[in-house]
Amino acid sequence: MKVFTPSKIAGLELKNRIIRAGCFEGMCQNGQVTDQLIEHHRRVAEGGVAMTTLAYCAVSKDGRAFGHELWIRNEILPDLKKFTAAIHKEGAKASIQLGHCGFFTSKKVIGKRPLGASPKLCVFTLSYCREMTQSDIEEKINDFVNASLLAKKAGFDAIEIHAGHGYLLSQFLSPWTNKRKDEYGGSLENRLRFPVEVINQVRNVLGPEFPVLIKMNQRDGMPEGIDIEDAIQVAKAFENAGASALIPSAGFTSNVPFLMLRGNLPVKEMSNNQTSLLNRIGLKLFGRFMVPEHPYEPLFLLEGSKQIQAAVNIPVIYIGGTDSLSGMNQIMDEGFDFVQIGRATIQDPDFVKKLESGEITKSECDHCNRCVAAMDAGGVYCVSNEMGFLKKK
Ligand SMILES: Cc1cc2nc3c(=O)[nH]c(=O)nc-3n(C[C@H](O)[C@H](O)[C@H](O)COP(=O)(O)O)c2cc1C
Repeated sequence: MKVFTPSKIAGLELKNRIIRAGCFEGMCQNGQVTDQLIEHHRRVAEGGVAMTTLAYCAVSKDGRAFGHELWIRNEILPDLKKFTAAIHKEGAKASIQLGHCGFFTSKKVIGKRPLGASPKLCVFTLSYCREMTQSDIEEKINDFVNASLLAKKAGFDAIEIHAGHGYLLSQFLSPWTNKRKDEYGGSLENRLRFPVEVINQVRNVLGPEFPVLIKMNQRDGMPEGIDIEDAIQVAKAFENAGASALIPSAGFTSNVPFLMLRGNLPVKEMSNNQTSLLNRIGLKLFGRFMVPEHPYEPLFLLEGSKQIQAAVNIPVIYIGGTDSLSGMNQIMDEGFDFVQIGRATIQDPDFVKKLESGEITKSECDHCNRCVAAMDAGGVYCVSNEMGFLKKK
């Protein structure tokens, strides 16, 4: 079966076409790499994926929304090396997702006013960001470059730049967050300027063979956000800037976070995890109105992903609702080169191995999405899975 055969992204050979998607682990208390984090990914690597992705890591200290998020710095290089060594020992490759939260960073966590494309109030953190200056933009480009170099030095086989889900680069792309009047705002060409420069400079320092994956949006999911027509142009621009592969996802973390996931809204669990009483009550009372619900269906991002794939010549990695062998085969038949999988590998880290051996044909993940709430309460695990392979100790 094609999905279990080797293939390449840039100069990197992967043993099969299956990559664990970046799923925030919530296991980096005080921004440190922990044994819990390494073990989580070691198990996923052991379970048969070709590559696992260390989820959201900020490129700088001021890019974090939570205290248990990692930010890249020299001090943690030995621990990152431990991480990549553990994955390599299992015969898998390691990727790291690099980004910046922009306007939804937490003032409490970073100790200063958040940065954004344009001034904007974040209703979750209740902070009002300031518009980035030219020198802020240059500083953040440098942060992406330095973080990428450090990741390579730590032994990561690939990096994944987060330019979707309403993170900083996506905030520049989206007219909902970008109201700038200078050369970084207005036309799509202008809104692309900063993200394209990041990809360009990262590509230049990492060399042509190093895989630079870009996670992007095929649609933001709100009326003023980008839609598929814009996303096709974004995909082409990212390819020209030096992307090795694209991962077309959807949604905006600050207002339509479940568009990328679909399924149940774990409002009760999420509100219980809030540290501030106001947020706890707010989410309990208004959670269902503040966070729109989207029904789950397998391969829920297929149509837009196909349009993006048709527009570029680099590999497109399908993401979104791949939960069965037949789903994976369909993705391969549609001509995608790789697939990224999130929840099915949280539900069971041996998901891929079991599919390959014929022990199962489908994931038991029920899309309750309580794993999303768990990541802010001690670390991600499958709450529905009583056997709890990755259950919090
Ligand atoms: C617990 C959890 C945490 C996630 N954290 C991230 C993240 O840090 N960065 C990201 O780009 N996507 C994140 N996602 C979204 C996944 O990468 C993926 O897009 C989504 O789960 C859909 O894939 P699936 O249907 O295979 O689960 C997360 C998903 C889950 C379930």
